[in-house]
Amino acid sequence: MVKAGVVCVGDNPCTNPANKITSDQIVTLDGSIISAAKDRYFMLNKPAGVVSVTKDHQHPTALSLIFEHRSEELQIAGRLDIDTTGLLLITNDGKWNHKLTSPRSDCRKIYQVTLANPIGPDYTEKLAEGVLLDGEKHRCLPAVMEQVDDHCLTLDIAEGKYHQVKRMFAALGNHVVKLHRSKVGGIVLDTSLAEGDYRPLTASEVACIR
Ligand code: URA
Repeated sequence: MVKAGVVCVGDNPCTNPANKITSDQIVTLDGSIISAAKDRYFMLNKPAGVVSVTKDHQHPTALSLIFEHRSEELQIAGRLDIDTTGLLLITNDGKWNHKLTSPRSDCRKIYQVTLANPIGPDYTEKLAEGVLLDGEKHRCLPAVMEQVDDHCLTLDIAEGKYHQVKRMFAALGNHVVKLHRSKVGGIVLDTSLAEGDYRPLTASEVACIR
């Protein structure tokens, strides 16, 4: 294909297969980009029914919604349950992923929570003290709750334990019926993204995790 003259490096056709290129150069084949910037970052508005794993035989995966070149290099940074909707971050930058998900990173997350039973009068205080999850030895870090109505609230937490939000409200004797993530660290879900849509992160969104 190089010899046929359909490959360009930058704006120039490249007909020499021995030509060396650097990772920051853009290579196109018939006008389509086939090289990728070294580090790539996306936000997906995850719909319900989609799993946050790389491969699954039963359900569509979050990565199957990302139509990008070399998508097999992408990883999910901080999972959401199959029935949870909202902000899911995806990258090929392992260090950035670690920064975001490491328990030491203090990266706060904001969730919109709908509960089966009315919000108890003591929830704000109990969440601020740190609830003890079933099967855990240590209390959760303090969480900040803002009540929206009888059954709905916004929850701001610092951790990302397995089923954390659902287990927090189970510990308070309630049950989460709907869960949506709207913010991770300084990155806010773009409200112009329909469910299932994604967009690249801006440089400042990427930098706010660093
Ligand atoms: N907490 C949960 O219980 N589920 C999620 O998907 C995210 C946080």
